[in-house]
Amino acid sequence: MKEIINQIESVLKEEWKNEPTGHDWEHIRRVRDMSMHIQSLEGGDRDVIELGALLHDISDHKFNGGKLNAGGQKAKEWLIELGANMSIANEVASLVDKISFKGAKVDAGVLSLETKIVQDADRLDAIGAIGIARAFAFGGNRNQIIYAENTEPVLHESFESYVNAKTTTINHFYEKLLLLKNEMNTTIGIQLAEERHQFMKDFLTRFYSEWKLNR
Ligand code: ADP
Ligand code: NI
Repeated sequence: MKEIINQIESVLKEEWKNEPTGHDWEHIRRVRDMSMHIQSLEGGDRDVIELGALLHDISDHKFNGGKLNAGGQKAKEWLIELGANMSIANEVASLVDKISFKGAKVDAGVLSLETKIVQDADRLDAIGAIGIARAFAFGGNRNQIIYAENTEPVLHESFESYVNAKTTTINHFYEKLLLLKNEMNTTIGIQLAEERHQFMKDFLTRFYSEWKLNR
């Protein structure tokens, strides 16, 4: 299995090194490293977790025209092609399809331990200082404005309305980033999310105070 993991890693490293929206190789690497750290405390199948972390953004709905299960399918085909067995390929495919955030009021369903771990690692990378940097990189890339005083955040009831809505990057904090703290699955995930959450709140306080001083 180590050989398959190495092959996937070297392809992703090359293909995703210049990705500009915060889904670059370094995001994948951080999610993999954090997933393995959480695994060392919580258990779970190490191969499924490592492969799931490496492949979790392989065909994100945000960039593939909205296809929801394309990531899992793509991950599965690649794993089979590299010689992985069907049961691992299926577990990784299901993990990849399930971890993405679907909207504030959308239920994620039942998740395996491995999925919960990679989801926590992915969510930790969406909050705190790195999360803030990634949100503005993502926003700029999709021509979204930073902030508008008179637009209210929307807590989306459906995945369709979440992905199709036009928002501001500051509103994205209320629509997703500040909600993640209460959606963490593992004990260590909850602890780390707490600190990163506080940092985002401090950032927003400072942001509003500077915004007003500049008027
Ligand atoms: P998920 O699997 O939940 O979709 P990812 O790790 O693939 O999470 O990446 C989501 C990243 O994209 C996060 O850092 C998030 O803040 C950012 N993002 C998604 N939608 C927006 C948006 N409308 N504005 C700013 N950032 C966004
Ligand atoms: Ni991700």
